[in-house]
Amino acid sequence: MERKEKLKIGVIGFGRMGQLYGRELLKNPLWELAYICDTGIAAGKAAEVIAPHAEIIDDEDKIFANPTIDVVGLFALADSRPAQLYKALKAGKHVLAEKPIAGDIKTEWEVAEAVAKSDRMVAVNIFNRNAWYHKMMVDFIRSGEIGELAIIRIAHMTPGHMPQEGHGPEGPCFHDCGMHYVDVARWYAGSDYETYHAQGVRMWSYSDPWWVQVHGTFQNGVVFDITQGFVYGHMAQVQTHNCYVDVIGTKGIARLKYDFKTATVELHGVHDTITKTDDFNDKKIDILVDVFAKSVLAGKNLGYPTVKDSVIASSMAWKMFDDAVKNGAPCIGKPEEMDEILARRRTMKQGYGLPLWPIVDEHASEKNNLKNKK
Ligand SMILES: NC(=O)c1ccc[n+]([C@@H]2O[C@H](COP(=O)([O-])OP(=O)(O)OC[C@H]3O[C@@H](n4cnc5c(N)ncnc54)[C@H](O)[C@@H]3O)[C@@H](O)[C@H]2O)c1
Repeated sequence: MERKEKLKIGVIGFGRMGQLYGRELLKNPLWELAYICDTGIAAGKAAEVIAPHAEIIDDEDKIFANPTIDVVGLFALADSRPAQLYKALKAGKHVLAEKPIAGDIKTEWEVAEAVAKSDRMVAVNIFNRNAWYHKMMVDFIRSGEIGELAIIRIAHMTPGHMPQEGHGPEGPCFHDCGMHYVDVARWYAGSDYETYHAQGVRMWSYSDPWWVQVHGTFQNGVVFDITQGFVYGHMAQVQTHNCYVDVIGTKGIARLKYDFKTATVELHGVHDTITKTDDFNDKKIDILVDVFAKSVLAGKNLGYPTVKDSVIASSMAWKMFDDAVKNGAPCIGKPEEMDEILARRRTMKQGYGLPLWPIVDEHASEKNNLKNKK
């Protein structure tokens, strides 16, 4: 049989992430972008501009029914993914999917089981696994340069994605975004979570905590704390952020900070002291589409992130978030402040985690004023 040199892909969901994939798929010679499926008009218009040679459709079944399609890209929202993934596997397609793989833990594990039983390849975009700076940190830790790994501290705080800005099935930001850092800590530890305790804050008196800090242990005794919140100075005249990883061993340390333009790794080992600054490279979609294409063509995983790692991260993030709720996250601030932030973000051209289109609920403050309901 003739060896394939190119893969034909149909993508479902062409919002913020779908468009990032579209651009990278078009740049990579291993891909042919054949279909773009989106149920929204604005996305269809974006598809016409970005990928004029792709067929733009609103019926996903056209992709599954076409025997020349090798891979399906699932970039819509989490609640639509399981049904699309099952159809893809049934039709013999490989799958490149966004996270989380489903809208609830039970369905996620069912999907993971179906993928494990299938001979098709399925990658999930837990993008930190493709980041040069995390790989450099993990390699240094594993080399023994910092002695025995003891403490992992992670913070990811930006004036980012707000309530009412979409991603409903993905849940509050500690799950939607925080699952990435739950995954990073587990990857660094090289062990599974054992204990945790979480504290949250219901900023602007919104119904869900929008800042959560969790600490605990891994099964191998390594301890961790993760702080995630999209509450970091949304109304500041000049916005900033605070994002870092700080790893402490019995003899040395490894740390990392990033500003979404560059990342800086600082390694202080017993023999080596290394500092490196390079491009942050946003969601690393170029790397993901390349490693996935090469994996499918080679018939083995050459380094793409797996469904199992994604499901573990997602389910732990839900459990930690639920713990923050159980432990009584206090209400701070007013819903009107949230409305002010949403109004500012609607006029911003550049910022952290801005949605592509204004999907803001005008009546957010009435719905979410928990303090007034008490
Ligand atoms: N890995 C990451 O770092 C990362 C970052 C951001 C978002 N995401 C994930 O990517 C997914 C998409 O996020 P986004 O920011 O692009 O959202 P978005 O709202 O910008 O885009 C979603 C698109 O999907 C379309 N859509 C919804 N249901 C559909 C269906 N059944 N069939 C076809 N199209 C459908 C919508 O019309 C929209 O254009 C989310 O699940 C989110 O969690 C991942």
